[in-house]
Amino acid sequence: MSEQVKSRQRVQDHGEVFTNEREVNAMLDMVKQETERIDSRFLEPACGDGNFLAEVLNRKLNVVDSRYRKSLPEWEKYAFVAVGSIYGVELLGDNVASCRARLSKIVETHYTPVAKRGKNPAFLSAVEFVLQRNILNGNALTLKTVDEDGNDADEPIIFSEWSIVIGNKVKRRDFRLDEMLEGSASQQQFSLFGASGTPTSEWEVDKDTGALIPKPIREYPPVSFYEVMNVE
Ligand SMILES: C[S@@+](CC[C@H](N)C(=O)[O-])C[C@H]1O[C@@H](n2cnc3c(N)ncnc32)[C@H](O)[C@@H]1O
Repeated sequence: MSEQVKSRQRVQDHGEVFTNEREVNAMLDMVKQETERIDSRFLEPACGDGNFLAEVLNRKLNVVDSRYRKSLPEWEKYAFVAVGSIYGVELLGDNVASCRARLSKIVETHYTPVAKRGKNPAFLSAVEFVLQRNILNGNALTLKTVDEDGNDADEPIIFSEWSIVIGNKVKRRDFRLDEMLEGSASQQQFSLFGASGTPTSEWEVDKDTGALIPKPIREYPPVSFYEVMNVE
């Protein structure tokens, strides 16, 4: 995004002023190690067309390229993990569409030189599916989804966690964003899908990080990440 402002009206109505590339990079450099960890989760609650998320994805995919470019299946698996770790909420539908398209293009740009013998349509479909689920049209203040005009649709924002469990198998678990944030507020600390503190019966402890997470509202059976869109 080179223009920082689309229109004066949008600035007045929605505070829409995009962050320029230099500032994005300077801010992300403050958490450089996390931006280069393939599975480190990022959520941007007013993501616009994805200035921060695009750069995070680009950095993660640079790491995937350097480690796995010689093995296409490994590259695809870790690129899937990178995409699945990036989350956004945005009020305006056109920004949501631009953000998803931009992230998708970044994957394609990295994928093209690696997939010399041809791209796998199943991989690209899985990426599209995850982007549809991870970049959501919603109101970050009410934590509800919104309709095309930005009006609350009265449905809670629900994010999916994508975890590789074994080999190519990914497990999807859905969580309400309001529940994740509620836990964080009461415990003063929050990381996406994890908050430190004392467990109650409503919470479970993440075995990898020791962090607290709310119970998922839905769990799906593990499937190959190439087939993640077929398990609804
Ligand atoms: C200042 S811009 C920042 C965009 C992007 N984060 C960036 O740094 O380039 C704020 C964005 O938040 C969106 N927005 C405004 N109110 C919102 C709300 N309640 N929930 C979600 N997004 C909102 C606007 O449409 C706009 O895209």
